[in-house]
Amino acid sequence: MQYSSQAVAKPYFIAAIGLFTGQVLFGLIMGLQYVIGDFLFPAIPFNVARMVHTNLLIVWLLFGFMGAAYYMIPEETETELYSPKLALLMFWVFLVAGAATILGYLLVPYATLAKFTGNDILETMGREFLEQPLLTKIGIVVVALVFLFNLTMTMLKGRKTSISLVLMIGLWGLAVFFLFSFYNPHNLVLDKYFWWWVVHLWVEGVWELILGSLLAFVLIKVTGVDREVIEKWLYVIITMTLVTGIIGTGHHYFWIGTPEYWQWWGSVFSALEPIPFFAMTVFAFNMVNRRRREHPNKAATLWALGTGVMSF
Ligand SMILES: [Fe+2]
Repeated sequence: MQYSSQAVAKPYFIAAIGLFTGQVLFGLIMGLQYVIGDFLFPAIPFNVARMVHTNLLIVWLLFGFMGAAYYMIPEETETELYSPKLALLMFWVFLVAGAATILGYLLVPYATLAKFTGNDILETMGREFLEQPLLTKIGIVVVALVFLFNLTMTMLKGRKTSISLVLMIGLWGLAVFFLFSFYNPHNLVLDKYFWWWVVHLWVEGVWELILGSLLAFVLIKVTGVDREVIEKWLYVIITMTLVTGIIGTGHHYFWIGTPEYWQWWGSVFSALEPIPFFAMTVFAFNMVNRRRREHPNKAATLWALGTGVMSF
């Protein structure tokens, strides 16, 4: 750690690990419920456990992305964070809102939760992964905007690198696509069509940009390979990610009432989607093989390689 404001990443990482543990726990509960049908009945029904499980996944990943960004941006921009205090404040806002939402799922019937959180003002609840009450959704947007403001201001006053720019594009994309969770048309085809703009364009689009830039940052640190070489790989990877990921959304548009051409576009481009992930793996191994120094942190190097393999 070279900059003291990077320390705000720590609580984010701790929260991410804690919430991930929760996700695993609820995953195990559901797995058991397949075997023992009335396990924890009626306290935790399967549908509630599933909602808690998938929502915890989203929240811990967001905590992880945010913590990683707060750690990486000061080093890349060679300047302290614009406001570490704001970053810490948002941490607590997000943690409390996240915990309250999970408790709401577990303790109150979903319909009651919807009634008391303003779902009749703007109906956004009841869809997989986007079950969050309106208040929580607004909270996520506020936290994301303050987070992006903080990082963008940091970037403006510091060194601009391609790696931090790719990270910022990924994070801005993440926030923008989440806005589609507020759009819930009554027409089921339209609903599903745009629902994937959050779910697919996150997982197979902007998250890959975030992963790619974080990986590039770690690889520069642990291998000492020239930034120019690392960046060239990153450009190729994110271009392929966006081309295959955006049009590949079509693999979710089969037989849901969308035009027939999506079967071709969706099939062809989703078949290409593994390529950027494979390139990410080759990238990591290639850079480690070409390393110009033996970094003492062997775990970080192994982690970088493992990330490439696992994402593929
Ligand atoms: Fe997909």
